Amino acid sequence: MKKQITIFDTTLRDGEQSPGASLRKSEKFEIAQQLHRLGVDVIEAGFPIASPDDLEAVKLISKNVKGPVICALARSLKKDIDAAYRAVKPAKRARIHVFLATSKIHMRYKLKKAEGEILQQAVSAVKYAKKYVDDIQFSPEDASRTDPDFLFRVIEAVIDAGAKTVNIPDTVGYAIPDEFARLIYNIMRRVRNVNKAVISVHCHNDLGLAVANSLLAIKNGACQVECTINGIGERAGNASLEEIVMAMRTRKDFFNKKTDIKTKYLYNTSRMVSRLTGIIVQPNKAVIGSNAFAHEAGIHQDGILKKRATYEIMQPKDVGFGETKLVLGKHSGKHALFVRLKKLGFNLKEDELKKAFNKFKILADKKKHVYDEDLKAVVEDEMCAQGEIYKLQYLYIESGTQHVPKATVGLEFDRKQLKANASGDGPVDACYKAVDKITGFRGRLTDYSIRSITSGKDALGEASIKLIVKGKVVTGRGTSTDVIEASVKAYLNAMDKVYWAHSRKLSQQL
Ligand code: KIV
Ligand code: ZN
Repeated sequence: MKKQITIFDTTLRDGEQSPGASLRKSEKFEIAQQLHRLGVDVIEAGFPIASPDDLEAVKLISKNVKGPVICALARSLKKDIDAAYRAVKPAKRARIHVFLATSKIHMRYKLKKAEGEILQQAVSAVKYAKKYVDDIQFSPEDASRTDPDFLFRVIEAVIDAGAKTVNIPDTVGYAIPDEFARLIYNIMRRVRNVNKAVISVHCHNDLGLAVANSLLAIKNGACQVECTINGIGERAGNASLEEIVMAMRTRKDFFNKKTDIKTKYLYNTSRMVSRLTGIIVQPNKAVIGSNAFAHEAGIHQDGILKKRATYEIMQPKDVGFGETKLVLGKHSGKHALFVRLKKLGFNLKEDELKKAFNKFKILADKKKHVYDEDLKAVVEDEMCAQGEIYKLQYLYIESGTQHVPKATVGLEFDRKQLKANASGDGPVDACYKAVDKITGFRGRLTDYSIRSITSGKDALGEASIKLIVKGKVVTGRGTSTDVIEASVKAYLNAMDKVYWAHSRKLSQQL
């Protein structure tokens, strides 16, 4: 049977210690509610002695976030423990987390205390906190650099004093996975009363090993793991919650462990923490980075299209990410282009696809990413290059300051001569209405511009227009020395695109 791992989230405490990540009370509350939705077991909501604001934030969370255990941090000092208790008192399930450094370097230089004094202070702190709540966690700070025999003695003593959880921090991210795994293994075997407490781990990422160290600790008997959303935290941060959870989920065959995390909320939680702390998530961040499910190489895209599992070990929807992204760029192949065009509604024949692919490659060499709009333009150009559909035969216009403008337009379509009359707000409007009568499509003009592309009195004018036809935007361009003729040609150019799409039952893509 799979063993349950307790997820202890410290985004609001160690995470908030990230340089520049200070959060307001209301923001902490918003994150705490999201962590509850995500399914974390313990929320370390803050370090109440650090500031009155922090105390108030922990109190607010304790009062209102029901479900997870709400935990507050305290040094092994009475005043810290009193403040922590004041903050978590309203919680239905409250925990006080006391810590004291046990490594030689911390004891000698920071605390200026000998081993015996440290041992005594740790036990007294646990006993003092125990008067307030039953759920006490103790952390021997800098455990990974602590003399193992002394560490085992401290762990045994705090468990005897009533600690229900003993957390083993790799405070400065110094441990190497194999070594940290051995430390946890030895704790599980050499500490006499270890079965009376949960062994937890808290790894920092100074060498980029926080997740690896945490996972190996779990493999060797740790039942609680401390982590943060997006891996934020002091210096290089803490072990990232989403990476730990997804590693255990994806490799259940290896870990045989489970958590209560609803992984489909991981992405949104990550976005929220990033937005509120102002710490952006790198695109290549595992699990929730914007590139985590984006494939650019042609070989990979082809593989994904044939069988997703060839290049994806998790599904984007498992972490609430949306869809796999095939980024179309210069490394993409014909298969990926074909699939994307099909999604856009263009079902091209082999020779059309070949031409579109050649144009796409030229474009991809100039542009880093080719977006759907670019693709539409490539295909529409290709279709229009196959020949004009609506050919202008003649134009006759009646216009003047005292007259309602009228137009007669003659077109050749499908080897037939067609003609229509219309009046409008101006000569161009009258022409467009006459064209609509012939084509049967109704275009609503949203953009119109005319510019000269040669110089002199007989300058060639180019009309560029944007139309809405059947709810979609179509563009058109036309040139002539006569501005009205250029405008009508632009309109017919747009109508050719509508025709090609419509004749392929693709009008919704235009
Ligand atoms: O890194 C650390 O040692 C800590 C303790 C307070 C658990 O954050
Ligand atoms: Zn820490």
